[in-house]
Amino acid sequence: MSNNRVTRRQFLNYTLTGVGGFMAAGMLMPMVRFAVDPVLQKKEGGDFVLTKQKVSELTKTPVKVDFTFEQVDAWYKSDVTSTAWVYKEGDKVIALSPVCKHLGCTVNWEGDPAHKNQFFCPCHGGRYEKNGENIKGTPPLGPLDEFEVKEKDGLLMIGKTRPNTLV
Ligand code: FES
Repeated sequence: MSNNRVTRRQFLNYTLTGVGGFMAAGMLMPMVRFAVDPVLQKKEGGDFVLTKQKVSELTKTPVKVDFTFEQVDAWYKSDVTSTAWVYKEGDKVIALSPVCKHLGCTVNWEGDPAHKNQFFCPCHGGRYEKNGENIKGTPPLGPLDEFEVKEKDGLLMIGKTRPNTLV
């Protein structure tokens, strides 16, 4: 007979520890998975949103392009509709954010009949050049942001905003 015999007490300890550990892992795994799930989700199609705007129909006059994307806030998903002012400069497509750099109102192209060929913010009379540059002497202190753009099958795709590269 060996000296390493497992006593009845030791056997019970091992068995209960093993079963307890297995049950604890069974309870904790779903919780851990639930906690990190949003981090593990892969985004399809990158950060660009396909719009209905044909690139070939864009001109040098800014047009309003609406686009909808799914916003995930932790576990809450919602569809958000946003807008860009889009035009062409030669072959280059330019998409500007409509969010005023003063207090965040929405700017409109030629919104003020007294100032043609400019973006106008109706909240406090902010004005911007066509390239998004803020006009000195009006409330906004910086240029409109610019969206990253791509083309897919002739349609415009809009990405994230970035600081204006045109000014
Ligand atoms: S929010 Fe646009 S000028 Fe004030």
